[in-house]
Amino acid sequence: MRRRNFLILSGGGLAAVGLAACGDSGGSGGGDGGNSVEVFTWWAAGSEKAGLDALVEVFAEQYPDIEFVNGAVAGGAGSAAKDMLQSRLQAGDPPDTFQAHAGAELNDYIDAGQIVDVSDVYDELGLREAFPETLLERLTADGAIYSVPSNIHRSNVVWGSAAVLTEAGIDPATPPTSMDEFLEQLDTLAAAGVTPLSVAAAWTQVNLLEAILMADLGAAAYNGLFDGSTAWDSAEVTTALEHFQTMIGHTNTDRDGLDWPDATQQLIDGTAAYNVMGDWAVAAFDEAGLAPADDYVYFELPGADKIFGFLADSFTLPEGAPNPEGTRAWLDTISSPEGQLAFNLAKGSIPARTDVDTAEFPEYQQSAVTSFAEDEICSSIAHGAATSVGWLNAISDATSQFTAGASDLAAYQQALADIAAENLA
Ligand code: GAL
Repeated sequence: MRRRNFLILSGGGLAAVGLAACGDSGGSGGGDGGNSVEVFTWWAAGSEKAGLDALVEVFAEQYPDIEFVNGAVAGGAGSAAKDMLQSRLQAGDPPDTFQAHAGAELNDYIDAGQIVDVSDVYDELGLREAFPETLLERLTADGAIYSVPSNIHRSNVVWGSAAVLTEAGIDPATPPTSMDEFLEQLDTLAAAGVTPLSVAAAWTQVNLLEAILMADLGAAAYNGLFDGSTAWDSAEVTTALEHFQTMIGHTNTDRDGLDWPDATQQLIDGTAAYNVMGDWAVAAFDEAGLAPADDYVYFELPGADKIFGFLADSFTLPEGAPNPEGTRAWLDTISSPEGQLAFNLAKGSIPARTDVDTAEFPEYQQSAVTSFAEDEICSSIAHGAATSVGWLNAISDATSQFTAGASDLAAYQQALADIAAENLA
């Protein structure tokens, strides 16, 4: 009942819902209003699609009269989707809603006038009380709120293959307690003839970099990288980049042609020992039938502070969306306790709502709930929480050049410092 009321309150919803479906269910474009809602994400395959499917199932129960149109564009972390989205927005062809990260990434769309304030949705659904302050502040700009979160992911997790570690004489049940110990383990693994650390294309390398920066700098200095209070050309950043260089030296050389599921797969296949990746990886392990502890282990890259590398997926109401009432229905589903429960169970993330009972969540997600509540929060670079799309793209390019051997460490650090100076100006 709540949902039907929501559409009435939103004005004009029922009229729109009564129209015949005329969207393009082929998945590219469509969204011409009527009785459909085109949802643009990058959850196109594997465990990510399974997460989206879980959400779509709840949507079909809550809004049986609205057709879901899948506008997913493949490529982890939106590596292909974001460019495609920008072309569509600039061409005046927005989907009904699109996935965006809470935080600095959202500001790009806000500044360009591409998304609309959804404060009224928060008021009607009581969402200000449902989400934690940490998250609300990353969704808010000048007092307005521009998107609705579906989940919270953690970016700074080291995943390990229990079998590969054991085979190399490393006890998987005892995580390393310092960066030096972790680096020694990588040497041991290399000597054992396995890939010590799997990684994939540029954005996953940035994901690795941010986890190292968090561990080496600690929360306060890491967060200072994004407000100018920590210098990117400081000695502590040099140390982190040295660790990054060492780790990249221990990765698979075919990395640039791979996406995150390929790097995770190397642990599943037993050809690599470790992978640093966001906790969507746990959904891939589960999908492959692996069990925590017995088959895979996880821990935070060791450092001075206990840190939760934060990111959240959220959904927007684009300016000029063909079917804004359909969008509002989607926002209702993804923010509802039912939607958040179904989605996050499948996705490896934790509910953004604080009132969803996570007692039935698997072991890994329970640990993420605890970490989010107790540890320091640091915004992810690779997933739009700390940096704008432009800043992230520049970091990714500089990182690719460095890992491809086209720049040395000093030039890389200088490039990162220059990029920060430009973006903080
Ligand atoms: C992140 C996104 C996650 C997951 C990941 C890999 O940016 O927030 O939900 O999809 O990319 O594609």
